[in-house]
Amino acid sequence: MDPMLEELYQQHRRATEMLTALRAAVRRLAQEGAGGPGLLGELSACRETLQTEVASHFQEEEAALFVVLGRRIGAEGGPIAVMLEEHRELRQAQAEYVAGLAAVDAGPGEAGPEALTAAAERILQLLPPHIEKEEAVLFPMADELLDEGEWAEAHRLWREAQAVAAGASA
Ligand SMILES: [Fe+2]
Repeated sequence: MDPMLEELYQQHRRATEMLTALRAAVRRLAQEGAGGPGLLGELSACRETLQTEVASHFQEEEAALFVVLGRRIGAEGGPIAVMLEEHRELRQAQAEYVAGLAAVDAGPGEAGPEALTAAAERILQLLPPHIEKEEAVLFPMADELLDEGEWAEAHRLWREAQAVAAGASA
């Protein structure tokens, strides 16, 4: 399998680990409230992964794999259009998570945990089936359809997207 595709699978595994931590943190938030020991730290660690690894994963997929594969299978409809729409919904939920956590972090008397919980539940609802669809449909399609030249182009675009992501987080 192409090394870029392997790396995308790896990134999904790390996102799935973050989801496990997020699920546990949301459960604790419901039981203990935002004052639970270490809980804000756990929620912040999830935010960090969402804002860095998950955000650049989406960006890299969109800038490289989806572009090259899109030329073969079309990007206007079908699986790529569905993945792009799900990325849009997930970015929205992630932005709401960041805002909800900032509000809770500002302390009691500010916001309750409702918006944060709703955003986290949306991420927990959207991201696992999104990952499953990419792994069951899109990635095997890329593995089967793309030739050497197309993979070379995907790699070039991928490195460019990584450089942009590195510049943005520096
Ligand atoms: Fe993905």
